Amino acid sequence: MIPILRTVVGLLSGWLVARLLAVLTRLHVNSSGAPKKTSRRSFIRNASMGAVGVVLAEATAGFIWFFWPNKTGAFGSEISIAAENVPAIDALPFREAQGKFYLVHNEDGLLALYWKCTHLGCTVPWNADEQRFHCPCHGSIYLYNGVRIAGPAPRPLDLMEVTVLPSGDVKVDTGKIMTRSAYQPEQAVSYPA
Ligand code: FES
Repeated sequence: MIPILRTVVGLLSGWLVARLLAVLTRLHVNSSGAPKKTSRRSFIRNASMGAVGVVLAEATAGFIWFFWPNKTGAFGSEISIAAENVPAIDALPFREAQGKFYLVHNEDGLLALYWKCTHLGCTVPWNADEQRFHCPCHGSIYLYNGVRIAGPAPRPLDLMEVTVLPSGDVKVDTGKIMTRSAYQPEQAVSYPA
């Protein structure tokens, strides 16, 4: 999406510059199409305006470039998990800090669990002693597959879209978050593909 927006902005900028040049060209020809004689005063005025325009254009471009969101590899984008980090069936969840999810692997396949508690949004850690996800804020408890079994949370942990590549690596789209009311085996993505 962002590369498309950048392309559109680039095309619009190019079109605006072309229009501006066309207008300036028209100002410097008379009605018969011959070039007007330029006085020293108008030359200095045009040169000054041109210089100011260039500086403003550069400042605007720099401002847009600086503040343009760049989500590559961060929350909201696709995140790759190398095959060696994919947990074995029922093994310790793989924690992905930038993507804010756990990758778990049950007998049905892989699930990417968004670690935000569905009660009030606290980060839910995996508790190895309990073999459960246990929210520290108000005590909601979730199974390995993210289903809530205790506490005030209204539903299971949300899921992110998982894609398994032929290499065994996994892609998790942290921009595609799905809610659910229960666990269904189809929610898991079989691994290896
Ligand atoms: S935020 Fe997790 S139980 Fe309240």
